[in-house]
Amino acid sequence: MSFLAKSLSNIKPSPTIAISMKAAELKASGKDIISLGMGEPDFDTPDNIKKAAIEAINKGDTKYTAVDGTAALKKAIIAKFKRENNLHYKASEICVSTGAKQVIYNALIASINPEDEVIIPAPYWVSYPDMVLLAGGKPVIVESSAKNNFKITPTALEEKITPQTKWLILNSPSNPTGACYSTSELKALAEVLLRHPHVHIMADDIYEHLIFDDLKFATIAEIEPQLKDRSLIVNGVSKAYAMTGWRIGYGAGNEKLIKAMSMIQSQSTSSPSSVSQAASVEALNGPQDYIKNSKSVFQARRDMVVEMLNKIDGINCNTPNGAFYVFPSCKGLFGKKTASGKTIENDNDFAAYLLEEALVAVVPGVAFGAPDFFRISYAASEEFLRNSMQRIADACAKLK
Ligand SMILES: Cc1ncc(COP(=O)(O)O)c(C=O)c1O
Repeated sequence: MSFLAKSLSNIKPSPTIAISMKAAELKASGKDIISLGMGEPDFDTPDNIKKAAIEAINKGDTKYTAVDGTAALKKAIIAKFKRENNLHYKASEICVSTGAKQVIYNALIASINPEDEVIIPAPYWVSYPDMVLLAGGKPVIVESSAKNNFKITPTALEEKITPQTKWLILNSPSNPTGACYSTSELKALAEVLLRHPHVHIMADDIYEHLIFDDLKFATIAEIEPQLKDRSLIVNGVSKAYAMTGWRIGYGAGNEKLIKAMSMIQSQSTSSPSSVSQAASVEALNGPQDYIKNSKSVFQARRDMVVEMLNKIDGINCNTPNGAFYVFPSCKGLFGKKTASGKTIENDNDFAAYLLEEALVAVVPGVAFGAPDFFRISYAASEEFLRNSMQRIADACAKLK
């Protein structure tokens, strides 16, 4: 009998991390690899935030804090929800964790019983299905199409709801597609959810501030107040303030669920880093110009990347409204042969070919439940992106 837990047989390591590691390995062996697999802003954390962390260290804020977050950070989070989302929470409805990822994990562990189902729209963030499996639940995938900008329809959602459905996970703007639900699209989904009161909604809003084209961000609990008590909002400072390494995320929702999540955290990791929490107070309460500036930089990069990709024969790329990813189709290249005589049969073959021929690392769509596509992160400088798109174009032109 294996020493390792049986539950591990259902899950796999994060494919995005696997690609980054493979690219790093090739780079270490001297190859000029460009990685477009990263899921983090390339900017540095703003100085005012760093300064707040240094002050916290000097002040001696270096001890355990309350498990579910400091009073100061909870206050800043409550103010953020009021200011940006018109949502009102009490401190007992907030839990601060070590990244948004831990918020999601805690919530699933706190709520899933065997046989419980979690509806996950595809393409999805790689960790959702595996976290559901680790919690002992069943991921139920609801498909979307590129034609509908990778957004699920109310009918497709309703078809997947069963008496066992515990959660619907909504991620807008989305990783990997950059898709954003508008207020009216969320309203239409809310109408379905109102008909099924046993379904809870996990709104992963981590890319809230990376939304372009003057679109207004919307979250379902704000749009349909009747759903607020059965929604858990997941958010954090990682993507909005270039703070991925600080590891601070937060959840807001029903007090009972939040209490259970805090209890799980108290028995696993305890409080998140005291210094990172102090930095996050400054991120949320301090000047917000960083968000505005990074947004316009990302939008310009998106436009360039989409334009260059769509000039390549066989590649087809939607213009996403948010996050820092594009999710083009490579289906038009299937059946073509590489110079060494290998046929590109699928997205995995295509990603492997790009790594080998163009020395560019992208993530195949199958990792996100969407074969035929691949994900490019454009969280990199314009020059770097231009160079990578050119390499991809040159490699594709060599396919016969
Ligand atoms: C959709 C989505 N949710 C959550 C996370 C996790 O964020 P954090 O770094 O705060 O744990 C990520 C990170 O890549 C993500 O893409």
